[in-house]
Amino acid sequence: MHPLLKTPRLPLAIAVSFPLLLALLSGHAAAERRSLAQDWLFQKGEARGAEQPAFDDAGWRKVAVPHDFAIMDKPDGTPPFDPKAVGGQDSGYLPGGQGWYRRHLALDAGDAARVLRLNFEAVYMDADIWFNGEHVGRHRYGYTAFTLDLTGKAKAGDNVITVRVNHADPSSRWYAGSGLIRPVTLDLLDPVHVAPDSVFASTRSASSDQGEVDVRASVSNRSAAAAKVEVLSTVVAGDGSTVARERRAMTVPARGKADLAHRFAIANPKLWSPDAPNLYTLVQEVRVGGVLRDTRRTRFGIRTVTVDARHGLRINGKQYLLKGGNIHHDNYMLGAAGAPDADRRKVALMKDAGYNAIRSAHNPASQATLEAADELGMLVIDEAFDMWRKPKRDADYSRFFEENWRRDIDSMVVSGRNHPSVIFWSVGNEIPEQATPEGAKTARELAARIRTLDATRPVTQGVNVDSPGNAVQFAELDVAGYNYRVHLFGSDHATHPERVMYTSESTSKDAFRYWDPVGRMPWVIGDFVWTSVDYLGETGIGWMGYSKDWKELGKYPWHLAYCGEIDATGRKRPAAYYRQVLWQSGIDPVVAFVEQPAGTEDLPDRQYFKEHPELDWSLHDLHPSWTWTGQEGRPLKVVVYAEHPEVELFLNGRSLGRKAAGRQTEYQVSYSVPYQAGRLVAVGYRDGKAADQWELRTAGAPAAVKLTVDRRQVRANGEDLAYVSAELVDANGVPVYARDGDRQFRVTVKGAGTLAGAGNGNPMDASSLQSGERATFHGRLVAVVRAGMDAGPIEVEFAGEGLPVQRVRIDAASL
Ligand code: GAL
Repeated sequence: MHPLLKTPRLPLAIAVSFPLLLALLSGHAAAERRSLAQDWLFQKGEARGAEQPAFDDAGWRKVAVPHDFAIMDKPDGTPPFDPKAVGGQDSGYLPGGQGWYRRHLALDAGDAARVLRLNFEAVYMDADIWFNGEHVGRHRYGYTAFTLDLTGKAKAGDNVITVRVNHADPSSRWYAGSGLIRPVTLDLLDPVHVAPDSVFASTRSASSDQGEVDVRASVSNRSAAAAKVEVLSTVVAGDGSTVARERRAMTVPARGKADLAHRFAIANPKLWSPDAPNLYTLVQEVRVGGVLRDTRRTRFGIRTVTVDARHGLRINGKQYLLKGGNIHHDNYMLGAAGAPDADRRKVALMKDAGYNAIRSAHNPASQATLEAADELGMLVIDEAFDMWRKPKRDADYSRFFEENWRRDIDSMVVSGRNHPSVIFWSVGNEIPEQATPEGAKTARELAARIRTLDATRPVTQGVNVDSPGNAVQFAELDVAGYNYRVHLFGSDHATHPERVMYTSESTSKDAFRYWDPVGRMPWVIGDFVWTSVDYLGETGIGWMGYSKDWKELGKYPWHLAYCGEIDATGRKRPAAYYRQVLWQSGIDPVVAFVEQPAGTEDLPDRQYFKEHPELDWSLHDLHPSWTWTGQEGRPLKVVVYAEHPEVELFLNGRSLGRKAAGRQTEYQVSYSVPYQAGRLVAVGYRDGKAADQWELRTAGAPAAVKLTVDRRQVRANGEDLAYVSAELVDANGVPVYARDGDRQFRVTVKGAGTLAGAGNGNPMDASSLQSGERATFHGRLVAVVRAGMDAGPIEVEFAGEGLPVQRVRIDAASL
């Protein structure tokens, strides 16, 4: 089938209204965004001449975008990990390199004549783009969105987009991925249209009685004659009702622009907050002579953000403490491919685990991440850079900073500023120039640039030194981010009483120490742990920590950091439960975990950490298991985390004593329990009464695999994902967690979908993420299924050694 016929069309206007009908009849097509997710052709390595339209791409591999070529198995089917990769421990032993993409784009004469804007949300990195053989753009930074204007360059029939990615190693301190890692779209517009990047809807004031929203935009006229236009702006609430309307007449000069600024007063608005993420849509319709030429829809929220050292962070006047987690952009088994559903899932996992804030470390978040944060009610610190002019790695972005920082800052702010979830802009993380006059000057320039595009949000930066220079650095910023500097909050407040502070990075094992001052010191507004979700690269830091001889640690086959409180498959580790208790979130108010007995570590090299417990990013070696065969009669350490003032532990119905808990015990108590198979139950008491409990049961041999799927239906759009989690259980349905229960599986996907990846979270299992051949780790394995373009049933099959085959059905529905 012709590629164009399979390209989904996403009309910007929702219903065919009378003016739209008129526009269609008069030959003006509605503004349209086309997804270019499908039908890319890819070739790894050099491909001389591939920018020429006539180049023979018959042998190239067909891929869907977002796409990360660095995570893909080699052509012979072997996994991509390479112990000799230049990126080494940083990159998870995954090399970068060069890659080429070609996309044939069939346009009819009408479409070829429209205003065409080709949007790349992120290409990692140093990309060159050609259109029909003409070099149309270069974009260096791997995390910012950019648009190429193809107007007047397209022809009726076949057009060819070519992208060369030149990911030189080492470019990053973590796994960055390579290629078209975020969505690509094409906008087809009338010559008279709202300039897409010009729209900014910001809240001037917000109360339950009234919200004032300032709208700024400009109308662009690409035609040779001045245009008398009418712009109708409406605000549509979540229930579809129109709550405000504004009509403006203006003249837009030929090949020029005209600005628009107005204020909406919205009565009894539904404000946006983490507790009630209400959204509105600004719909801007542009008419010339009564004919609809353009419709632009921009989603936003009505909310104010203020910070000060007395009241902390307030949203709509109400104080919020930032219960934060840092995340990187990769999606584990999909590599760095920012599939919208995968990005969204990460936000949802955090929300479900009680976090209310994300720091997008150390680069601008994807649109899917921000959209999910808007919808689910997560606060976001959107961060620009991990370095400025001074490099951290030989081939990193510092090579391009001087020439590019303005466009990259602009891109971050323009693509993020309509998202109510974004509360702060961060200009950087642990910048080598920080706390020096040079660092302060750069921060001033970056912050000034941000404020010209958005003066409504505070600007911050993550600083990790104890230096007198911090004062000059923080003087340029509205909010001070401290990486691992909880010891400075008291003394820095004494010298800078107006400074608003937060922990932009903390170690998980010190969660109490970092959380305790938050809010108790009103100027300390939050804490972002490193990290909430595990990620590829910085291998092994969550197991061994760093040390003087850290180069000896985290060697291949390590490829995950393993410091995520939520593991790479999405499973909460004990540290995530502890945090929920610290936050008094009521999700699992009492939980019990067991420390791995000495000499039985399930991963090697832990001994070094045991001798150097000060090493930073390691998590406590605790497990949600009461299956310790071979340890009978030996004392095991059981740690109970509780929100309650009193807890009691029971083994096989026998009390092991009540203990007081609370802030004085850092919300945890421990017991030494001689191991005996059976049931271990922790009970939390409030007012002397049993309020909640948590149970761990000894499991037998694995007898079955239990499948759970996060959705039963996907759209047949080639992009939707369903996550299928497989859990080993014994004959009684008790989860099998012990490593000796792990089993090898073959996962296959048949019908209207494909297997996009499978992973188990084992930081040392560097086997293929695409083949479907994968073992469980601590009894768990997760497969990601991608919808195809055709509707129909998808059958996902898990065949584990010695276990009955299990299947789950997902339906791909037509659009
Ligand atoms: C921090 C840094 C993070 C990560 C972390 C753990 O200093 O900002 O990006 O590298 O250390 O190694």
